[in-house]
Amino acid sequence: MKIAVFPGDGIGPEVTQAALKVLDALDLPDLTLFEGDVGAAAYRRHGLPLPSETLEIAKSADAVLFGAVGDPECDTLTRDLRPEQAILGLRRELGLFANLRPAAGWPGLEDLSPLKPQLARGIDLLVVRELTGDVYFGAKGERTTKGGEREGWDSMAYRESEVRRIAHTAFRAAERRRGKVTSVDKANVLETSRVWREIVSEVAAEYRGIALEHMYVDNAAMQMVRSPGQFDVVLTGNLFGDILSDQASACVGSIGLLPSASLGERSTQYGTFGMFEPIHGSAPDIVGQNRANPMAAILSLAMLLRHSLGRAAEAARIERAVGAVLGNGIRGADLGGDAGTDQITDAVLQEMRQIA
Ligand code: IPM
Ligand code: MG
Repeated sequence: MKIAVFPGDGIGPEVTQAALKVLDALDLPDLTLFEGDVGAAAYRRHGLPLPSETLEIAKSADAVLFGAVGDPECDTLTRDLRPEQAILGLRRELGLFANLRPAAGWPGLEDLSPLKPQLARGIDLLVVRELTGDVYFGAKGERTTKGGEREGWDSMAYRESEVRRIAHTAFRAAERRRGKVTSVDKANVLETSRVWREIVSEVAAEYRGIALEHMYVDNAAMQMVRSPGQFDVVLTGNLFGDILSDQASACVGSIGLLPSASLGERSTQYGTFGMFEPIHGSAPDIVGQNRANPMAAILSLAMLLRHSLGRAAEAARIERAVGAVLGNGIRGADLGGDAGTDQITDAVLQEMRQIA
């Protein structure tokens, strides 16, 4: 089993190191780690946010464990040199079209949500976000209008085959969950969304047991705070998914708890190749202070074990350990507590020993 490890910028290295301690504790046989540079760290060393060496490491691995990218010092660089290009480039080059972002309230943490506790308690949803298409990867640029004004432009498009494969991901996920898919679009305005809606409805016909509803994105944003418990699987495109997944994470209470998986079509010997990363960013304001909550990175490792390495039992053991640590009242600063990165990591390791 080969895992590519890309710690990246800011708190990325700190939380990735915590996840690697947890991986080490599992004592898996035949496991090799390969480290690579991404983001501002890679730009400083190689002049590029995603050097070709890094991409090659990813391609030869069964899975990628990713920390975070982003650095305020890079804000003035042109777009192709910015740290974010590492993540966008990896998604595109590795064909990681399916982004899974689960958001569920942890018992006892309802008070951290900006929503009323009874609403927060009911959240158990999975955002299935298309990740390699849409306005993110369409042609874009700047031009001058006839009137001499500068004009920025981006193009939004979705091909039938792109919609179809992400719709299958969502419906298959719903089969293992509560059997409901909410497809989010803007079909009252956008042609992209009209085609999206038609294709999703066609795919739905292949899944008899699953209930499909279509929802406009503005309404979905409202429903997400008004009654988030209605959502099971939220299927949506790249741009709407970016926005709604941040919103869902805020509803749960802390972005420091949420992992994510980005999966492609390539099968590995043990599962599906993917890249796994915490949803939170590089948090430059708290770098090196032992204040980052490593739970999202640790839970991302659990997703990696489940999806790419076929290690569901180990994944469940990690998730139970994190739940137990939260249950014991050990909280990072993001959860209003004072536990540091090391303390949280040690507590998770200790719970894992007890579960073993
Ligand atoms: C995310 C992030 C990225 C995105 C940025 C860093 C390019 O916000 O993973 O949600 O927009 O997809
Ligand atoms: Mg985002």
